[in-house]
Amino acid sequence: MTEEPVNVNEFRELARQALPKMYYDFYTGGAEDQYTLKENEEAFRRIIIQPRILGNVRSIDLSTTVLGYNISMPVMIAPTSLQKLANPEGEIATARAASACNTIMVLSTSSTYSLEEVAACCDAIRFFQLYVYKRRDISAKLVQRAENNGYKAIVLTVDSPRLGRREADVKNKLVVPPLKNLEGLLPTKFVSDEKGSGLAALASGTLDASFCWEDITWLKSITNLPILIKGVLTREDAIKALKVSVDGMIVSNHGGRQLDYSPATISVLEEVVDAVGGKVPVLVDGGIRRGTDIFKAMALGAQAVLVGRAVVYGLAAKGEKGVNRVLEMLKEELELTMALSGCCSVKEISRSHVRTKHDQQL
Ligand code: FNR
Repeated sequence: MTEEPVNVNEFRELARQALPKMYYDFYTGGAEDQYTLKENEEAFRRIIIQPRILGNVRSIDLSTTVLGYNISMPVMIAPTSLQKLANPEGEIATARAASACNTIMVLSTSSTYSLEEVAACCDAIRFFQLYVYKRRDISAKLVQRAENNGYKAIVLTVDSPRLGRREADVKNKLVVPPLKNLEGLLPTKFVSDEKGSGLAALASGTLDASFCWEDITWLKSITNLPILIKGVLTREDAIKALKVSVDGMIVSNHGGRQLDYSPATISVLEEVVDAVGGKVPVLVDGGIRRGTDIFKAMALGAQAVLVGRAVVYGLAAKGEKGVNRVLEMLKEELELTMALSGCCSVKEISRSHVRTKHDQQL
C-alpha cells in the first residue's frame, strides 16, 4: 500500500507490512479460538445508529472529562505492553502523540520504556496500569513510583490471574524484550517453551493469582490516586466493585487475549452502566476501529473509550506520527458521525441514538 491510509484497518495492513510476523501476531492475536477477539468487532456491526435530522450541527464539541481531566475527545490510549517491538521509540512516541492530541495515555506495567522515562518525555496526562505480583512489595513500589512521577490514576487490570493462551505466540516462541519498569525487581528475561510463550512464563512465574476483592483495600491503603478496575464484564462484578469503592471501571476483555468466549465488551456495557447507576464513570475498550464504534459506546453509557490495537498499528506503521494520525482519524470520524446523527456535543449522544439486537426483539 503506497497511498496514505484512510482508516484504522488500512493502518493495520501497513503494520503487517512493517513488522516481523512474530510481532505482528503478538499485537493482533487473541486467545485460543479467538472468538472473543472477533466478536469485539462484530458486535459493533450489529448495533444500528438512529440519527436525528435538522439539528443545526454547524459546530461540534467532542471534548469531555475523565476523573476531572479535560480531554479533547472521549478516546484514551489503552495500556499495551512491549511497544518497542512496534517502533524503537515505543511508549515515548505514544505518549507524545497523546500529548499532541490532548488525551490520556495509560502506560502498561509491561512497558519497554520505564514509567520515569515516559513521564519525562512530554506533558501527556498519564494513568498507570498495574499488575499485582506475588511479591506485593514490587507492586507497591510501582504504585509509589507512578505517584512520584505524576501519574494521575491507577488502572488495576483484574482479568489476568494467569495469561490467556495466545497460540500464535506459543508457536512463534515470542521473545520478551526487557520490561523496563521491573529491572532490578524481577527477572525480566523469559523464554518460550512448549507450554507457552515467554510472556506466559513471565506471568505464571510472577503474577499473584490469589489477588481478590479484599485486596483492593490493600491497594487503597498504599495510594491516594484514584483506582479504576479494568476487566469488569458483569453486573455482579460491577456491584462488587462499587462496594469496595473503586473510582471507575473499564469494561474490558483484554482485547480478546484472556478468556476466550467471554462476551464482546459492547454487548455487556449497558448492563454494567445500569448496575453502576452513574456512581462512578464507566469506560469501555475492545474492538474500537471507527468513529461510529465510539459513538455507539457513548450511546450505551460509556464516559469514554480506550483503544489498544489501533494505536499500536499507527505506531508500527509510522511511529509517533502514525499514532497521532490514528487518534486524529478516530476524532474526525466521531465528529462526522455526531454531525450526521444530530449531536453537537458528547452529552447529547443518548441511548435513543442506537438500536441494539435486544431492542429489535422487543
Ligand atoms: C494489551 N492489553 C493490555 N492490557 C493491560 O491491562 N496491560 C497490558 O500490558 C496489556 N498489553 C496488551 C498488549 C497488546 C499487544 C494488546 C493488543 C492488548 C489490553 C488492552 O489494554 C485493551 O484492553 C485492548 O487492547 C482493547 O482492545 P483493542 O482496542 O485492541 O481491540
